[in-house]
Amino acid sequence: MKATALIIALLGAAEAVYIPSTGTTSLREEAAKKDILIGSGAINPAYLNDPQFAAVLALQFNSLSPENEGKWSFFNPAEGYYNWTSLDRLVNFAEDSNMVVKGHGLISSCCNPDYVLNITDPTALRAAMTAHFEAFMHRYNGKRVDRWDVVTEALKTQGGGLNANIFYNVLGSGYIADAFRIAQAAGPDAKLFINENLVESLPYKRQELYDLVSGLVADSVPIDGVALQMHITEVAPIPGVITDIVNSYKALGLEVTIAEMDVHTLNATLQTDIYGAVIEEALNAGITDISFWGFTDKHAYTWLPGAKPLMFTERYKPKGAFYATHTALTSFINTP
Ligand SMILES: *[C@@H]1O[C@H](CO)[C@@H](O)[C@H](O)[C@H]1NC(C)=O
Ligand SMILES: *[C@@H]1O[C@H](CO)[C@@H](O)[C@H](O)[C@H]1NC(C)=O
Ligand SMILES: *[C@@H]1O[C@H](CO)[C@@H](O)[C@H](O)[C@H]1NC(C)=O
Repeated sequence: MKATALIIALLGAAEAVYIPSTGTTSLREEAAKKDILIGSGAINPAYLNDPQFAAVLALQFNSLSPENEGKWSFFNPAEGYYNWTSLDRLVNFAEDSNMVVKGHGLISSCCNPDYVLNITDPTALRAAMTAHFEAFMHRYNGKRVDRWDVVTEALKTQGGGLNANIFYNVLGSGYIADAFRIAQAAGPDAKLFINENLVESLPYKRQELYDLVSGLVADSVPIDGVALQMHITEVAPIPGVITDIVNSYKALGLEVTIAEMDVHTLNATLQTDIYGAVIEEALNAGITDISFWGFTDKHAYTWLPGAKPLMFTERYKPKGAFYATHTALTSFINTP
């Protein structure tokens, strides 16, 4: 097969970057026709040093979110000290590439610095959350960051209760409501999400998340939606489950998104089929915000040795997963 290459003139740069052609339109072109966000998460700003990475990201996607760089200790490791270098780089890239950004994420069990872990007084912890959220949100409000993961992985991985993180230990289960209220005050125009894993494949955990979120809604907590991580290993969600999830939250007035999709399997055909089936069902169910946990296997993270979970190869060649996603987008008809 003859190598074909696309030449992308980098904005403001004289040099050109060669990336393998997909032979078709970009995902973001097709998504834009239907008002859909198609994004890549797991964007470590250091990856942008690779011009091919930057070119494919800007060509194919209209949304991005950081990998860990938005987590607490990464930019606010000490009280009152903020290092914005990495996050500024991402937001500036999004600005130059006409993309939006999801702020991921304000609260998680991971990556909390010692000064936070040491707090035992509830009032002091709420004050630390307020200062952290205000710093982060005020810096980027109105600058392409249009939505946030306020709380990520509140539930235990296999379900069965809340993760006993610092926030739960000091504030109790009410920390989730506190986090959304603080976020809403700091960023009144942004959409606020709870981000959770495995609910599409674990029925018990699905119910648990629903009970948690419907409780928040009943208490008038300012939450806009649920972000399904959608990390898939070998087995796709049962057909109909994504639709049921969307409908159950729609009845509460909430939106459902896909935030971190990837497919871990050694079977490339199965991977292609799962990408296609999940995106097709998600679009038909009314999901308009779909992001993957990265796009090139060059920077993939997997718990299944040998799996390559993303839609481009290490050398940026499109895989079956790319074409299945593209087909799902082009064949989707969004009649109101
Ligand atoms: C801020 O973060 C950047 C990017 O991670 C790093 O290169 C730099 O050394 C940091 N600055 C300080 C003062 O720690
Ligand atoms: C956290 O607490 C430990 C143990 O008391 C102490 O050694 C450390 O200096 C504290 N760190 C911060 C950042 O407050
Ligand atoms: C790979 O997946 C496809 C599609 O599900 C299936 O037909 C095929 O049998 C699988 N191959 C192997 C080696 O398991």
